[in-house]
Amino acid sequence: MELTRPATAAWRDDPAAYWAALESATAHLDPPFAVLSLPALSHNAFDMLGRANGTRIRVASKSVRARGVMDAVLRVPGYRGVLAYTLAEGLWLATEALAAGSTPDVVVGYPSADRWAIGALANDPRLASTVTLMVDSLDQLDLIDAVVSPARRQAMRLCLELDASWDSRLLGHVGTWRSPVHSPEQARALAEAIARRPGFRLVGMMAYEGQLAGVADAPAGKPARAAMLRWMKRRSAAELAERRAAAVAAVRHVADLEFVNGGGTGSLETTSAEQAVTEIAAGSGLFGPHLFDGYRSFRPAPAAALALSVVRKPRSRIATLHGGGWIASGPPGADRLPRVAWPRELRMLPREQAGEVQTPVTGRDATSLRIGDRVWLRHTKAGELSEHVNTLHVIDGDRLVESIPTYRGEGKAFL
Ligand SMILES: Cc1ncc(COP(=O)(O)O)c(C=O)c1O
Repeated sequence: MELTRPATAAWRDDPAAYWAALESATAHLDPPFAVLSLPALSHNAFDMLGRANGTRIRVASKSVRARGVMDAVLRVPGYRGVLAYTLAEGLWLATEALAAGSTPDVVVGYPSADRWAIGALANDPRLASTVTLMVDSLDQLDLIDAVVSPARRQAMRLCLELDASWDSRLLGHVGTWRSPVHSPEQARALAEAIARRPGFRLVGMMAYEGQLAGVADAPAGKPARAAMLRWMKRRSAAELAERRAAAVAAVRHVADLEFVNGGGTGSLETTSAEQAVTEIAAGSGLFGPHLFDGYRSFRPAPAAALALSVVRKPRSRIATLHGGGWIASGPPGADRLPRVAWPRELRMLPREQAGEVQTPVTGRDATSLRIGDRVWLRHTKAGELSEHVNTLHVIDGDRLVESIPTYRGEGKAFL
């Protein structure tokens, strides 16, 4: 699979033809299954590069969870390296890349307490020189030392995570609870302490601004909330830009940083505007799940979708789909449900919503649905879709061009 910038945007300009092409390319498949539209994926990949404005993008693997897709994206100039979501996953990716003759570049985006994986990393010099661990406290270094003492291992590559959340006087704490390292002084102190420890090498910094990257600022039908969120984002971005620049400068006095990672799909514009950031970790925007429909500055193509079959009609205006309850992580709410993409005039029923084995839908288009027809849905999030299927079928026009195994299809479940 090769990603090239598409000339047209069928998903937007002629959605009926777009979904009909997906339907005809997969006519021989039985739902449930998932597809990935190659032109839509390519559009998203190039659009993200444009939004990153020259800052390179590290692929957030949790938002893809299919090696064949990540490899294709990483062949596009402007993309480099993977932000893994567990150490075991990072080791697997790096091992497979080495076996294929390429040079892995893996940063594990979250601290790990997986003793087996830490041991495997520490005992393999080739992996230890390509996989970087995330830390925000000396306790995590102690845990690594307890698994393999510094004298018996090669230096571990470390990335220091800075807290990117915002303490607003009006809103309280805004953002995710991650690193305890908030101020430039704290960042420098931790960097100095790491420098004094044998068996470690500080090579990177990361700060993930979830309140900017992961929060939609143009929620449909909620103008007051949208205005508040835009205000929050403006203020938080300004606060972070100043603090991150100071923290990076402070740490650079102590360590020779190879990279400074920040942001995500939803913050490519603001994160790339910061001089201190050398790369952005992003992945969700590639699949274009519906969580990202509510952003003001961009609108991803619906590249990933799932097909379900109509298996019964309890009433003429209700069609019941087989499956559908692929609910996304995050604060539970209606926005975590898959959203019907096509036929368009369908909606779930409030008392039943998306079920474990069946999902009734109603609306204008339900009347014409027959047993065996298909309904296309989009997941709220990106990589979680890959946990439900073994394969992503790649569609170009009305042809199925490739079937790529997901992590699950490769027998891998990490988190
Ligand atoms: C550390 C980190 N970086 C970046 C991202 C952004 O990923 P995405 O672009 O898939 O939203 C996330 C998402 O949670 C993250 O945890």
